Amino acid sequence: MSRFYATTPIYYVNAEPHLGHAYTTIVGDALTRWHRLLGDDVLFLTGTDEHGLKIQQAADAAGLDPQAFADGIAPTFAEAWKHLEIANDDFIRTTEPRHRVAVVELLQRCYDAGDIELDWYRGKYCVRCEEYYTDDELLPGDQCPIHKLPVEVFEEENYFFRLSRFQQRLLDWYGDHPGVIVPEFRGNEALGLIRSGLRDFSVSRTTLEWGIPLPWDPAHVAYVWFDALTNYLSAVGFGRDDEQFREWWPVDYHLIGKDIIRQHCVYWPAMLLSAGVDLPKGWAVGGWLLAGGEKLSKTAGDAAKPLDLVDTVGVDGLRYYVLADTPYGQDGDFTYEGLVGRYNADLANNLGNLAARVATVVQSKCGGTGPAPSADSPLATAAADAVAGAIAGWDVVAPSRALDATWQLIRATNAHLEAAEPWKAEPGPEVDAVLGDALEALRIVTVLASPALPATAQEGWNRLGLPGAVTDQRIPADVQWGGYPGGLPVVKGAPLFPRIKT
Ligand code: MSP
Repeated sequence: MSRFYATTPIYYVNAEPHLGHAYTTIVGDALTRWHRLLGDDVLFLTGTDEHGLKIQQAADAAGLDPQAFADGIAPTFAEAWKHLEIANDDFIRTTEPRHRVAVVELLQRCYDAGDIELDWYRGKYCVRCEEYYTDDELLPGDQCPIHKLPVEVFEEENYFFRLSRFQQRLLDWYGDHPGVIVPEFRGNEALGLIRSGLRDFSVSRTTLEWGIPLPWDPAHVAYVWFDALTNYLSAVGFGRDDEQFREWWPVDYHLIGKDIIRQHCVYWPAMLLSAGVDLPKGWAVGGWLLAGGEKLSKTAGDAAKPLDLVDTVGVDGLRYYVLADTPYGQDGDFTYEGLVGRYNADLANNLGNLAARVATVVQSKCGGTGPAPSADSPLATAAADAVAGAIAGWDVVAPSRALDATWQLIRATNAHLEAAEPWKAEPGPEVDAVLGDALEALRIVTVLASPALPATAQEGWNRLGLPGAVTDQRIPADVQWGGYPGGLPVVKGAPLFPRIKT
């Protein structure tokens, strides 16, 4: 059995979860659900980023000590993910002891390798990014290019990670590992950052207490990004459980947003090279969900609250939208109309209608018992294409492609029914064949769509009269044409995706 380890970014606890956070988390969840269907032994990690100046300031503003503040917010992430049917296997908080052990180990290794050195630093810092910027990166008026707010001038004695030494090694490594960053154009962005020259970055702060002290100089605490990135190692036993670590590292995919490419695709591999740790096998970089051209964030208001959107389109409706509407990697424009439009078109009209229609005709023409599919069905090729398309899509973390391939089969099945019009025909072998084929196509669709629509897929599975759990199916063995045995009780039930009035 192969292992599959995937991670989301760990989210800052200065804000409660919003749709922007849910975006990457849903993609990671669907990807790992897909790998469970492939039979992989999966570890899906998410968590919270709790140290650093940004959190310290948010805690101060709330009149709480940072630990109490983080303790209050971290569970809101865990709860939101539960509500969205996120099946993460672990949830890491950077304030946990297991994380501290790993950060100390990684720092010490980089220090021992001679890649961390003490130096003076004066620079312009954006607290929201927790990043220094050079003058040519700043917007007019010394504003942060991401937050468009003035940066602050900081001067301190810091330990520096000698990133500048790693330019050629990183270029060589990426050259030897083409395609490790998907989609490709995001990989090119990472290479562009490396080629444009690498500045050493500071890995410690003395002006801050809220962090992990450096093992060799406890007057300094670790810079929040050095600390945060290490979470991917801490969760699999780095510095603590060598056997577990060997089992799971290197990670298969880090899912990240495009704003954190520099840290994940430049800093992180350099830190690992320095420490003598294997590099990740993949990075999947998503774009942003925008609202009116702006990044969705905690300030975007109620529209961005994932749990409120669920009241309208359901958990699976929201998951489907996030996965299908925007090709992963590109920015997507979030609108309420777009969400409802996608739901009505693909879920209510296409999938929901197909399921309802087939069940209705099985009631009226076959006494409620589903007939077996025919071996030479015209839908068999469409089904094989859907399976191949879904496999190819997920393989490069392109959920919209995987789902599009699946929906082609739904459309083909609807067209097949419309051409045959079994509802008009007399009961008999011809009607049975058409309906058996439609049931088989639905069975395959249900398995293929289940990473996106976990709850509805199981409900649809039950209604087809199929025993057990969709999650117990295996791809490709259980999505071969002919798996629906026939003779099962088919139930219509309430609409799987009730149409939303617009
Ligand atoms: N704590 C760091 C990550 C450390 S990972 C070792 C951080 N946290 S964050 O909460 O600000 O953002 C986490 C991720 O959420 C980023 O990848 C960011 O791109 C993503 N998103 C936040 N808003 C977003 C959208 N509106 N759309 C899509 N993703 C966005 O950065």
